[in-house]
Amino acid sequence: MKIIRQLAPLRKALDELRGRGDTIGLVPTMGALHAGHMSLVEAATQQCGAVVASIFVNPTQFGEGEDLDAYPRQEAADAALLETAGVEMLWAPTVDEVYPDGFATNISVGGLSMGLCGGSRPGHFDGVATVVAKLFNQVRPDAAFFGEKDFQQLAVIRQMARDLDFMHDIVGVSTVRDPDGLALSSRNAYLDTEQRAQAVALPNVMREAAAAIAAGGNISGILQDAQAELLASGFHKVDYFELRNADTLEIMNVFKDSARLLAAAHIGSTRLIDNIAVTPG
Ligand code: PAF
Repeated sequence: MKIIRQLAPLRKALDELRGRGDTIGLVPTMGALHAGHMSLVEAATQQCGAVVASIFVNPTQFGEGEDLDAYPRQEAADAALLETAGVEMLWAPTVDEVYPDGFATNISVGGLSMGLCGGSRPGHFDGVATVVAKLFNQVRPDAAFFGEKDFQQLAVIRQMARDLDFMHDIVGVSTVRDPDGLALSSRNAYLDTEQRAQAVALPNVMREAAAAIAAGGNISGILQDAQAELLASGFHKVDYFELRNADTLEIMNVFKDSARLLAAAHIGSTRLIDNIAVTPG
């Protein structure tokens, strides 16, 4: 597997892949890879002739006081995993390569970026949309793969790709969970043993709330009770616990098709997010 850090050699290596007639699947990541990322690689491998993964801890999507410096960086271990999974190329640019002196462009996706994580992390989705647009232009893939775990991010990227005429497929891949139900996340590494045991309340409470909503219960009451239950289970702050339309991310006050429950909550210094479909039982 080639590890490439500059744009000129990336373009040359991609030309070689395309010359071979391979379609290219892009798996963008910030590293600290886990089985969730590897399921994106697997989906890309099934759909495309060659897989290019990127690792770039994108500073512009972290707000002031967030975990940019603490974010786990383990490129050698990540590269070994990707190589074993058959990834052809790792695009791991430096910050200067992505944001050279004088960089002045910002992509802001209206509507979908508001509320939920956009409400609690102002500017976050501008940073995501800008770096993902750059990755799309740098790699020019036939398909790009993103986890449904970051459900709002996936919606923002789909909208950005539509609006800016990126023609390739954007593929969403189901969330991978630990056996107890906690969604895999690079940030789970911040949890100590006690917090890890408490964190399972998030998927548990979400599943219970989804079942209660699907059974026709009062939505606002269920959402309030769920937040109280999280706070009683070791989480100290709930950023949001909401029922939204899965396609538009509009708030859903009456249970209908395409309902999605989305939540973000803090345990210790770790902010966890999760989302699940709410389907009529
Ligand atoms: O989901 C992530 O890891 C990041 O937000 C992404 C899409 C790689 C952009 O930096």
